[in-house]
Amino acid sequence: MPLPFEHLTSAQQLSKEVVASVFAVADDMEKIWSSGKRSKLLEDKIIALLFYEPSSRTMLSFQAAVQGLSAGMELAHGRQNSSMAKGESIEDTIRMVARYSDLIVMRHPEAGSADKAASVSHVPFINAGDGANEHPTQCLLDLYTIQKEKGSLNGLHVAFACDPLQSRTIRSLALGLSQYDDIRFTFISPESLKASKDMLDVFDDRGVAYEETTELSAGIDADILYMNRLQEERFNDHKEFEKYRDQYVLTADMLKGKDTLIMDPLPRIDEIATDVDDLPNAVYFDQARNGVLVRMALMAMLLGKA
Ligand code: NCD
Repeated sequence: MPLPFEHLTSAQQLSKEVVASVFAVADDMEKIWSSGKRSKLLEDKIIALLFYEPSSRTMLSFQAAVQGLSAGMELAHGRQNSSMAKGESIEDTIRMVARYSDLIVMRHPEAGSADKAASVSHVPFINAGDGANEHPTQCLLDLYTIQKEKGSLNGLHVAFACDPLQSRTIRSLALGLSQYDDIRFTFISPESLKASKDMLDVFDDRGVAYEETTELSAGIDADILYMNRLQEERFNDHKEFEKYRDQYVLTADMLKGKDTLIMDPLPRIDEIATDVDDLPNAVYFDQARNGVLVRMALMAMLLGKA
């Protein structure tokens, strides 16, 4: 199925039909990837990866996906090493890069930068994280992980901790999940980091039930507990970050006798003790691997090759 958009900037573009079609292609990519072979699907394409904010998993999994599809790659990593440091606008950077690549992937610290980039790009554009706003490819890989682990995206109680205000992965996944049937959310955070009103308004419009609490224990009996670190770099007052950093730490003890699926987009900082890693329901490292498959699928589809 051709995708109904040229650029992916928000998880709100990921309708059920789009999600299902990306999953089908990702399943094919899984076969190629696990055979140790490379697909030649994008051998005549060049992909530009622009990462102006720290990244390990997203950048490396996009690189792996580019290589898995035999595409050429251009990489700009770090704002100090690029024209961003000289004050070039996002729009000018994209206008230029679009002249020597077939698809652009960008991570940028500014919320809204992805929309600016997409508005001037004449090649497909993918948002790999724009500030505290959105991270739609993380949403896709999270949904793909949930589908594999739970067998369905319907009928789930999903708890999110611990920074729903500033975490773009929580925002994108909650928006993506909110279109499915019989979904219920619990947002866990300190008072000052509660989910933003504009996101809660979407859930109200869609009739999605949600509760807000300061207690991590409220997530232990959910179907899925999605942990994400406090977004340290987005706090105006570092003291506030220090105040909360030990408040939400998930331990194996708290999960005794439970089969709650534990997810985390990573990096893990303080929010999950390492003794959770050995539990069979802790899937965060597999979750990261799924990123390669959905990113291969998405790039191939946006370029009309799948
Ligand atoms: C996340 C991000 O960059 O938003 N990381 C990722 O892409 N896997 C989560 C985070 O940094 O906390």
